[in-house]
Amino acid sequence: MYADNQIRRNTVRDITKLKGVRPVVSLTAYTAPMAAGLDPHVDFLLVGDSLAMVLYGMESTIGVSLNTMIEHTKAVMRGSQKALVILDMPFGSFEQSKEQAFKNASRVLRETGCAAVKLEGGAAMAETIEFLVKRNIPVMAHIGLRPQAVHVMGGYRTQGRSDDERTHMIEDAYAVQKAGAFSVVLEGVAEPLAVEITEKLDIITIGIGASAQCDGQILVVEDMLGYFPSNAKFVKRYAEVGKAIDSAAKQYADEVKTRDFPAKEHTYGLKPKS
Ligand code: KIV
Repeated sequence: MYADNQIRRNTVRDITKLKGVRPVVSLTAYTAPMAAGLDPHVDFLLVGDSLAMVLYGMESTIGVSLNTMIEHTKAVMRGSQKALVILDMPFGSFEQSKEQAFKNASRVLRETGCAAVKLEGGAAMAETIEFLVKRNIPVMAHIGLRPQAVHVMGGYRTQGRSDDERTHMIEDAYAVQKAGAFSVVLEGVAEPLAVEITEKLDIITIGIGASAQCDGQILVVEDMLGYFPSNAKFVKRYAEVGKAIDSAAKQYADEVKTRDFPAKEHTYGLKPKS
């Protein structure tokens, strides 16, 4: 679609080899045009279930279905050429049993062509991760602040600040590594703990709100573009797309009302007679 020459897509192995070499660069993407714009600059693109909130205006990530995630992942695959693409398994699609997880994750790889899945959970999901990996499905785990667990965590808050949480998170990190995850997202984790986990693990840690010391970083792209009203401390705005849309829409509305748009150059005349 966007390609004029063939580019090799990154593999899971390409990403894992970056530990200790240079930070891994990643962003979320949900659509083909966004994937095309980000593709030259990232190592992997995550089709995050954050799309529930960012694209669909839901209150949390709980409500998004596997079918929706699959359609957006197909779009991201069409729009990108180089980035490894990872689908975020939505709430309810993997927790019931390892068999349920395999059924859904294998469908994801078959139908989208993406090469890996991410799933939220640490030690509690280790058996499932091992089951998937042994059946050739690469898994990225996700520990710390887990948005799908918002109702049991009692909101979105930084994790690992108490001794108890710290101990649990280190156990989670070891458990997902032992289970065969190729990487783990650390979300909303205090810096000293993120450093400790990153140093202790052999697998890649991807931080979001977990300091610059992780092996790589991810952000929700709409957050960093200023296209979604996030006031999280860990988000840096690299653009003000929301403001650009507002001013473009205002100018368009003004010009339509004054008939300045469409102008002559946007208007078809009759076909010249031959
Ligand atoms: O859903 C998502 O976008 C995510 C990332 C923020 C890690 O899980």
